[in-house]
Amino acid sequence: MSSVFYRPRRLRVNQLVRDMAAETQLKLSGMIQPYFVCEGKDVKSEITSMPGIFRESPDSLVKSMAADFKLGIKRVMLFGVPNTKDAVASSAMGENAVVNHAIKMLKDKFGEDLFISADVCLCAYTDSGHCGVLEGIVIDNDKTLPLLAQMAVDLARAGCDCVAPSDMMDGRVGAIRDGLEGAGFVNTLILAYSAKYASAYYGPFREAAESAPQKGDRQSYQMDIRNRLEAVKEVTLDIEEGADMVMVKPALAYLDIISDVRAATELPVAAYNVSGEYSMVKLMVQAGYAEEKRLVLENLTAITRAGADIILTYHLRDILKHGWLNG
Ligand code: PBG
Ligand code: ZN
Repeated sequence: MSSVFYRPRRLRVNQLVRDMAAETQLKLSGMIQPYFVCEGKDVKSEITSMPGIFRESPDSLVKSMAADFKLGIKRVMLFGVPNTKDAVASSAMGENAVVNHAIKMLKDKFGEDLFISADVCLCAYTDSGHCGVLEGIVIDNDKTLPLLAQMAVDLARAGCDCVAPSDMMDGRVGAIRDGLEGAGFVNTLILAYSAKYASAYYGPFREAAESAPQKGDRQSYQMDIRNRLEAVKEVTLDIEEGADMVMVKPALAYLDIISDVRAATELPVAAYNVSGEYSMVKLMVQAGYAEEKRLVLENLTAITRAGADIILTYHLRDILKHGWLNG
């Protein structure tokens, strides 16, 4: 008998064997590409901190989407970048809100072939830059709820398939579900940003969406980065209130949370591979410290291995352009 009794390396001997034995598979059907929609015509400007990601007017977005669709992008998340902001996020509401306008145009062209989700949050639309309504120096949770519900109903009316509340107000999923049911939108999905942490990784996004708070920070509503058990509590509440899918955000520094959430629910679990995670990869690649394909696939594989079924990632277009999922 040889002195080496068990040889795990047999299952690593070549690519065919490794692929056969692999525990984790990345799937395109679980990937969602985010987009930033601004007002105007024929606008397409690259976001400095996020190379390859743009702010686009609705007409330009329709053209970009046609190209992306050919690449294989069929699931998207939209964020609005309005021209005007006020105390009650008026520019987020009604059919002329920039995202609703874009959704109408996209649905006219792509119909059922494109799955459109949209962020539900006030921060890009409030003059304070906060995710809820500001009363003096506090964010008024319960005054915010009807505005979020209104925003979600207007998105559904424009043709949005899935609304994704990212504001972290208490009770928002319930308020949105009630609003949708009341307006007859019984089939609109809710993807709840359930375990959303007060993270430094959102920096580039806030440049992209012009949504940084004017004063203070988001620690009174987003989760404390030191907490793990609380994530399961947030997820449980959102499910009780009517969420169809739950999300952990950010992804890479929160793999323990993704794993816990996976174990806590049978619903699809999403993870948001956020702007700062994307920018870090781009900077490392620019500096020549890593090969982009390997870095991106390693990150997305880790998120999947932790338990995410769905990943929102700015890398999706690059992945498809270069055929990185095909080996
Ligand atoms: C809005 C929102 C944010 C992100 C998604 N929705 C920013 C924030 O909470 O400040 C972050 C996404 C990213 O960083 O890619 N509430
Ligand atoms: Zn917000």
